Amino acid sequence: MKILVTGARGMLGRYLVGMLSNLPVAGNLGLEVTATDREQLDITHPQNTSRFISDCKPDVIVNCAAFTNVDACETQVFDAFAVNATGAKSIAMAGKEVGAKIVHISTDYVFDGSKMDSYCETDKPNPLSVYGKSKLEGELAIQEIADNYAILRTAWVFGPYRRNFVTAILERGKKDRKVSVVTDQHGSPTYTADLSQAIWNVISQDVRGLYHFTNMGKCSRYDWAKKIFELTGEPVSVLPMKTADYKRTAVVPHNSALNCAKYMLATGHKIRLWQEALEEYLQKTLSLT
Ligand SMILES: NC(=O)c1ccc[n+]([C@@H]2O[C@H](COP(=O)([O-])OP(=O)(O)OC[C@H]3O[C@@H](n4cnc5c(N)ncnc54)[C@H](OP(=O)(O)O)[C@@H]3O)[C@@H](O)[C@H]2O)c1
Repeated sequence: MKILVTGARGMLGRYLVGMLSNLPVAGNLGLEVTATDREQLDITHPQNTSRFISDCKPDVIVNCAAFTNVDACETQVFDAFAVNATGAKSIAMAGKEVGAKIVHISTDYVFDGSKMDSYCETDKPNPLSVYGKSKLEGELAIQEIADNYAILRTAWVFGPYRRNFVTAILERGKKDRKVSVVTDQHGSPTYTADLSQAIWNVISQDVRGLYHFTNMGKCSRYDWAKKIFELTGEPVSVLPMKTADYKRTAVVPHNSALNCAKYMLATGHKIRLWQEALEEYLQKTLSLT
C-alpha cells in the first residue's frame, strides 16, 4: 500500500509520517510512505499536483497541507483559498485519476459555535473566518469530486514539532509567571498521536465519509491552561479573561466541541480523554515522571 502525505513537515503531517513508517504491520502490508511538503509538492499548483500524483500513483493520499494561521488568513485571503480550497480540489481531482482514496483533514472552524451542544456531522456549517470558509470550500470540493474519501474534522491540535497552544502557554508562563486565558471558548484538545491513529484507522478499515475526531471531553482554553500547569508543576497563575478582551484579527467560535460518536461507531475505536493525551504528550516532550 502506497500512502502519500502532503504537508508532511507540519505538526500533524510529521507525526503521521513517523507513525505510519513505524507501524508493526508496515512490512506485512508493504507499506510505502511518501512524505511531501511545499518544496516537493505545492498543492496550489494544479498541474504540478496532477503530475506528481500521477507519477507517484498512491493508493491513499492524506492531505495535511493547509494554510493554518487563522489570523493571517483574514488578510491573505487569496493564499488561504489557494491552499485550503483550490489545493484540496486539485488533490481530489488528481487522486480520482489514479483511483486513490483521499483522507482530508478539516476543522471545527467550519461552525459558528452558537450551538449549546457538541457539533455533529449533520449540523450546518457557518464559518465565521476566512480560514473556516476556505476549509469548508475544500471539504465540499473533496465531497463533490472524490470517489473514495474520508474527511476528518478536528480541533485544538497539539503535539511535537511545532508551536501550539501548549508550548505557547508554557513559554508565556515561564516568562511572566502569570497568563490570562479565555474562559468563553470551549472545545476538545486533540493530540497528533491520537489523530494519526484515527487516520490510520480510516485508511486500514476503508472508512468513507465525513467524520469528527477530537480527544474526548470538553474544556475551556482557561481549563486547558490550568491543566497544563497542574501537570507540569509550574507555579503559574492562570487568570480568566473574555474573548472580547483579547485582540485578534479573526472571529473564532465560542463552542468548538465536536461529537465523535459517528467515528467511534464506524471504526470501533474508543477515543481517550484529552487529559490523558495531554499528560502523555507532556511526559514525552518534557520527560516528566
Ligand atoms: N492545528 C490545529 O489546531 C488544527 C485544528 C483544526 C484542524 N486542523 C487541520 O489539521 C491539518 C494539519 O494542521 P497542522 O496543525 O499540522 O498545521 P501545520 O503545522 O501548519 O502544517 C501544515 C503544513 O502544510 C504545509 N503547507 C502550507 N501550504 C502548502 C502548500 N501550498 N503546499 C503544500 N504544503 C503546504 C505547511 O508548510 P509550511 O510550514 O512551509 O507553511 C505545513 O508543513 C490542517 O488541515 C488543519 O487545517 C488543525
